[in-house]
Amino acid sequence: MRLGVCYYPEHWPQSEWRNDARRMADIGLSLVRIGEFSWSRIEPNPGQFEWDWMDEAIETLASENLSVILGTPTATPPKWLIDQSPDILAVDRHGRARAFGSRRHYCFSSSTYRSESQRITRAMAERYGQHDAITHWQTDNEYGCHNTVLSYSDQALQRFREWLRDRYGTIQVLNDAWGNVFWSMEYRDFSEVDLPTGAVTELNPSHSLDFRRFSSDMVVEFNREQVNILRDLSPGRAVTHNFMGYFTDFDHHTVGTDLDIATWDAYPLGFLDMSPRPRDEKRQWLRTGHPDLMAFHHDLYHGCAPKWGIMEQQPGPVNWAPHNPAPNPGIVRLWTYEAFGHGATFVNYFRWRQAPFAQEQMHAGLLRPDSEDAPAAGEARACAEELSRLGGHERGRADVALIFDYDDKWFLDVQPQGREYNGLIVAMEAYSGLRTLGLDVDVVSSRADLSGYKLVVAPTLMSPDAALVTRLSQLDATLLLWPRAGSKTTSYQIPKTLPPGPLQELLPLKVARVESLPPACPVEITMPSGSKVSAKLWFEEVETDLEPLAADERGYGAWYQAGNVHYLTTWPEDDFLREILLTLTSTLEIETIDLPKDVRLSRRGDLRITLNFSEQEASTEAAGGPSDPERYVLGGPTLGPAGVAIWKAT
Ligand code: GAL
Repeated sequence: MRLGVCYYPEHWPQSEWRNDARRMADIGLSLVRIGEFSWSRIEPNPGQFEWDWMDEAIETLASENLSVILGTPTATPPKWLIDQSPDILAVDRHGRARAFGSRRHYCFSSSTYRSESQRITRAMAERYGQHDAITHWQTDNEYGCHNTVLSYSDQALQRFREWLRDRYGTIQVLNDAWGNVFWSMEYRDFSEVDLPTGAVTELNPSHSLDFRRFSSDMVVEFNREQVNILRDLSPGRAVTHNFMGYFTDFDHHTVGTDLDIATWDAYPLGFLDMSPRPRDEKRQWLRTGHPDLMAFHHDLYHGCAPKWGIMEQQPGPVNWAPHNPAPNPGIVRLWTYEAFGHGATFVNYFRWRQAPFAQEQMHAGLLRPDSEDAPAAGEARACAEELSRLGGHERGRADVALIFDYDDKWFLDVQPQGREYNGLIVAMEAYSGLRTLGLDVDVVSSRADLSGYKLVVAPTLMSPDAALVTRLSQLDATLLLWPRAGSKTTSYQIPKTLPPGPLQELLPLKVARVESLPPACPVEITMPSGSKVSAKLWFEEVETDLEPLAADERGYGAWYQAGNVHYLTTWPEDDFLREILLTLTSTLEIETIDLPKDVRLSRRGDLRITLNFSEQEASTEAAGGPSDPERYVLGGPTLGPAGVAIWKAT
């Protein structure tokens, strides 16, 4: 695993570049991302390119053997371009154009912007595509950041109507699929369909869902246009895009089919502060980050492309969360090893030097604004030195897969039916349940090859199509389904046979009635052992001849089994999920470890990586580590606060 950094040569006097490059190499970094916001310096006036500074920056980095990840600058169209073609601007749901003055102000459907994005990408690829120092390209920057996937522009409206025509063929088919007879919402022609905004009350969920699918397709197309140019003019270079955390507004799996490496931007403390996690967890992991939130994303992006990496790793306090604590000593190193343990191909710290100007002046870097080392510089140096001794190890296939599809998340967003029912949270909680038992998890799309897994968990399988149901019926693995599986058709209707719809082929039960519950009203479940556990937020009453394995106080089934398929009628709390997982893993002979709350374990090749997220000492042996200190390639049997230990399995 290589280490790198995000650098903005245009922010600093040219006289400092050489020293910067030397210091990067001295720390042990070997990758540098540049360029992704540099349009106004590359092309200060229409058609007038100024390459000299970028030529010099790349040569300077190359002279220290630093490889360059070059970003296309399309997240920041310059002022002259916006003034020349205001139709580039995205439009918010109230019909207001999003203004120039920050970034990501473009609409993915704008045909003007599509050609401008291709023009600047081609210009950069023609200039640098064959340069030896350019080893990677990053398309744009964080698609969708600042809530920019959905745009309500005139061009989006036109493209949406075309998209609907392609999908449905005739307006009658659309009317039927959406159920437009309800409230007299029927259309006579595709030209009558508007974008889903501004209605008096809730919009038709089918309309909203299709707009989200359409908007996702615009991102996919936008990205693909750049990738095609880069592949053509810069063969042999890896193409990536930097995805985000907690972000599901487009189908990352589909964008990922065009990438060599799925990268993402990992800000553990900022994400925890902004997450809906309980207060005591936010306090407990204030300066360390939550032990599963980053890992979930690592495993999610691992499932999006052949390789994955971190394009931006938080190095210190950030500027954009409501509160911005500083990481504890050693935690930047721990996060680096967390990525290593999950199979990252590189980790880049964001950013090199803290900028004393503009929006992110309060965001830490590896260097302070006065160019002295910030604490993270020393931790990056330690990692570089240690990693050079570890050698290469590939992540293998896990025993457990967790299916997460973006489309399913949108189903739940559009009509949650219970305010707290969030598809990403339910998936993350399932993931945490598996990880606290020491299991590695491949988070995959339902389109992924599921062969070879022993256990497949599907917390959000809202609308499986016939092909997926067939594949699931042929699985050798045990399948664990959460409530709401198969509860909608692909066009957002209740299946004629009632939920779980086509999954009834695998599971002889019918959901007759559902209820959603306030968070303050947990459900008590009695397990086969007689122990009491809890569930929350959702409960289904089913009709079936199956005997439930666990039931609530009223005797309503909470957990059913039919052969290798298990179905939950309620959202399990940690204690309930844990008992289910222990039962399934022991039947399947999957080895589990009862990890302490703050300790996590992952496997990369024959290496076992253990991390301590707490501020107290912990023992590696609690994670299955050997007692003999000689067997460790890093650390040992005792894990200090923020400690990392690695040993070989054999
Ligand atoms: C990311 C973004 C970077 C920078 C960073 C600050 O979302 O890609 O450009 O803004 O956040 O944490």
